[in-house]
Amino acid sequence: LRQEGIAKIEACTSTKELQDVRVLYLGKKGPIQEVMKMMKDLSPEEKPKFGQQVNEIKQLLASKIEEKKVILEEKEVNEKLINEKIDITLSGLKPNLGNLHPLIMVQQELEDLFIGLGYEIAEGPEVELDLYNFERANIPKGHPARDMQDTFYIDADRLLRTHTTAVQMRVLEEKAPSLPIKVVCPGKVYRRDDDDATHSHQFTQLEGLVVGEKIRLSDLKGTLELVAKKMFGDDKKIRFRPSYFQFTEPSVEVDVSCHICGGKGCPTCKGTGWIEILGAGMVHPNVLSMAGYDPKTASGFAFGIGMERVALLKYGIDDIRHLYANDVRFLKTFSRFE
Ligand code: PHE
Repeated sequence: LRQEGIAKIEACTSTKELQDVRVLYLGKKGPIQEVMKMMKDLSPEEKPKFGQQVNEIKQLLASKIEEKKVILEEKEVNEKLINEKIDITLSGLKPNLGNLHPLIMVQQELEDLFIGLGYEIAEGPEVELDLYNFERANIPKGHPARDMQDTFYIDADRLLRTHTTAVQMRVLEEKAPSLPIKVVCPGKVYRRDDDDATHSHQFTQLEGLVVGEKIRLSDLKGTLELVAKKMFGDDKKIRFRPSYFQFTEPSVEVDVSCHICGGKGCPTCKGTGWIEILGAGMVHPNVLSMAGYDPKTASGFAFGIGMERVALLKYGIDDIRHLYANDVRFLKTFSRFE
């Protein structure tokens, strides 16, 4: 009985089998109970000895079962650890990362430059009052200069701003008569243009305004030279051509030396070596006085950059509509610039 029990315990390969063996040998119906039944046929002298022997076997088997249980449990835990192991060296799924839109890249680069020069960034409403979009910019009602910027009117006094000059007029009014003012105003503007490769009824500008005590045209030139170098490369030059805006006098059109041919002449610059990038000028005395400044002591410059135009030139994009179509295949190509 003893040998048989020990062999059965040894043969167990799982705690479950071991439990069955325990029930068999230590439970109410099993070989040990069978042997105990034989007690009644023994003489009174033999009984205690027999009982003692059976009990010894029982205790021996119980302790063997305990020993085996510890071994099997450990084995099962180890197996579980191996089977349920997670391979943490396996690389995870890569989320599909987006990248910045080319217009946002241009805006951030320009903002970085101007913040570095001590400018503040100012924003204003896209639904604007005629007052700030036109009147304060020295473009009174009925003036033919209004036709230069075909406007979406909402009612007699309100419109979709045609330039962020409107934000500059708000800043001027707010700050007057304190000096100096140094702001750039990025944002969307709207004009009743037919959409084509170079025109869009909605586009984005970044306009700048500096007003101080002795601000001169040469300050404007130095500032815009930095813009040209930052956007198109350190070897770029700029030049001024006379132009006309109601709110600046004198007004200039600013060209940058062609970034494709370096000034020799190519199709992009139509053989001239120069590319027009923005309009600018010295703030008109009327604009200063309407906002509450004395044009005898305060002077300033302003410039307006069309960010789409910069993006098209800088990244060699041939159609402005690509910037709004949001075709992921197009947008993905800009991840290399980040
Ligand atoms: N507001 C002008 C435009 O939208 C640009 C500009 C800004 C010109 C400031 C001169 C000075 O065309």
